Amino acid sequence: HEEFTKVKNIATIELGRYEIETWYFSPFPPEYNDCLKLYFCEFCLNFMKRKEQLQRHMRKCDLKHPPGDEIYRSGTLSMFEVDGKKNKVYGQNLCYLAKLFLDHKTLYYDVDLFLFYVLCECDDRGCHMVGYFSKEKHSEESYNLACILTLPPYQRKGYGKFLIAFCKLSAVHLFNFHLAYELSKKEGKVGTPERPLSDLGLLSYRGYWTRVLLDILKKHKGNISIKELSDMTAIKAEDILNTLQSLELIQYRKGQHVICADPKVLDRHLKAAGRGGLEVDVSKLIWTPYK
Ligand code: COA
Ligand code: NA
Repeated sequence: HEEFTKVKNIATIELGRYEIETWYFSPFPPEYNDCLKLYFCEFCLNFMKRKEQLQRHMRKCDLKHPPGDEIYRSGTLSMFEVDGKKNKVYGQNLCYLAKLFLDHKTLYYDVDLFLFYVLCECDDRGCHMVGYFSKEKHSEESYNLACILTLPPYQRKGYGKFLIAFCKLSAVHLFNFHLAYELSKKEGKVGTPERPLSDLGLLSYRGYWTRVLLDILKKHKGNISIKELSDMTAIKAEDILNTLQSLELIQYRKGQHVICADPKVLDRHLKAAGRGGLEVDVSKLIWTPYK
């Protein structure tokens, strides 16, 4: 796609109480070609050329959170599930916004086929978008997640890891309707993020996988295979092998891959893998599965 290699057009956006510098080109409709800055309504994500337009809009717009169902609430954090088919304009606006921070991903014009999971920090003024992930409703692949974004002002606070964990959790629920998480970890689909991953995406996933896998290896007594790890975690075998190889925990002995799990080495890697991020509290799910 030629348009995605174009130079950045919109330099900054205003969104809620933040002014955010953009990272990449996003294919806004042609009438926005002459704009350096766009003003977004932080709730419906409509975008405007001038501050006065936004101010006028804010007096009329009665959304105080993303459209769709609130499916998770824990403290001031809420997750909303937005069906791209029922909320087409919102879905498109979200894609335009997200592309400003995504390098290589193609934009999904056909938002009908996607569900958007929008994470918000809520206060008395409303629910303020922190980030989101999207997934295809009926994916043949075991892909969990089409796109993931934490808006720059909210990055490095653990929200990315939260979104990944939530995606995994909701994938399990989507495919196995109402099965408890622990149970579905045994029976659930094995998932992997859509490729190619950005550098930041890979770092986030590697961190998440490292923590999950090394936690198990630490507790486990005796031998364990990649296949068993995959069944326990719903992480693809290939991703497990790559992660463990990157940590140099795999040796090749007598024609077989062997996991070397010296507790001291595991602890060192776990420490380096960083904080666990915000935890998803399964009991805070308000779940009505997509049909
Ligand atoms: N530099 C180095 N490492 C980084 C990083 C950066 N700028 N941003 C994230 N990481 C790594 C760190 O290991 C971090 O863990 P730590 O904070 O414990 O060290 C880990 O990723 C996850 O951090 P977290 O706070 O949970 O993630 P986030 O909320 O910052 O979101 C992304 C991570 C990838 C969603 C976010 O950077 C983003 O939206 N990027 C733009 C869109 C994108 O590339 N999406 C992925 C497409 S596949
Ligand atoms: Na992350």
